[in-house]
Amino acid sequence: MKKKRAFSPPPGLDPDCVLAARALTKTYFQGDLHIKAVNDVYLNVKRGEFVSIVGSSGSGKSTLLHMLAGLDQPTSGRVYLGGEDIFEMDDGAFSEFRCKRIGFIFQSFNLLPVLTAKENILMPQKIAGGTHFPHYFRELTELLKIDDRLNHLPSELSGGQQQRVAAARALINKPDILFADEPTGNLDAASAKELIDLLLATRAELSQTLVMVTHDPAIAARADRVYTMTNGVISGG
Ligand SMILES: Nc1ncnc2c1ncn2[C@@H]1O[C@H](COP(=O)(O)OP(=O)(O)OP(=O)(O)O)[C@@H](O)[C@H]1O
Ligand SMILES: [Mg+2]
Repeated sequence: MKKKRAFSPPPGLDPDCVLAARALTKTYFQGDLHIKAVNDVYLNVKRGEFVSIVGSSGSGKSTLLHMLAGLDQPTSGRVYLGGEDIFEMDDGAFSEFRCKRIGFIFQSFNLLPVLTAKENILMPQKIAGGTHFPHYFRELTELLKIDDRLNHLPSELSGGQQQRVAAARALINKPDILFADEPTGNLDAASAKELIDLLLATRAELSQTLVMVTHDPAIAARADRVYTMTNGVISGG
């Protein structure tokens, strides 16, 4: 359904604030059971910041990240990206915005099983109707050490390789803001450090904002700010 486009930044929103959540809540209803996966979350992320979100399993980190990126609808509350309420944006305008300006590395990769690694990586460009830059593609896939696996299907790749393909796909459109949900969860310590180094280098090069969920204290320690989720409630930052 088409929604009316509205410009309604929250009062007092800092113009440097590229991402904001206000009273963001997600409740799952299963029979009589109500699970408040995300409970009244407020947060502000400034342009160019690296913010990490930590918390135990089931605390609501993925649910929060999906809503912040507009991949999932909240039960209530708002998300502002670039000062605009994303859930009030016209569907077409938001799809375009998301495709061109947001990258997302999923915890479970979400690679399309019938497409090769190369086709998966290039999919966001195809959707956005963007130009294919072979040089950037080569650089990215070499840095992520997947350049010799580009014609493999996801089922022919290891978990760590799939994770790196998912990272390349998230970066291919050079997004302004990158969301990463446990991007190193399937990597050994050395590969995890390499991927984080790459994400931080890309962030510096593109003046990108990075919001990352992680279990790894060494990675969280590299963030500008760390939020902690506990039973759907956010603290710190
Ligand atoms: N589609 C759903 N239906 C019902 N409950 C859900 C659904 N998705 C998530 N939940 C519940 O919401 C809570 C938060 O889940 P979420 O996946 O956000 O946790 P998480 O912090 O990312 O955990 P992990 O570290 O294990 O990835 C959990 O209790 C989970 O069982
Ligand atoms: Mg999760």
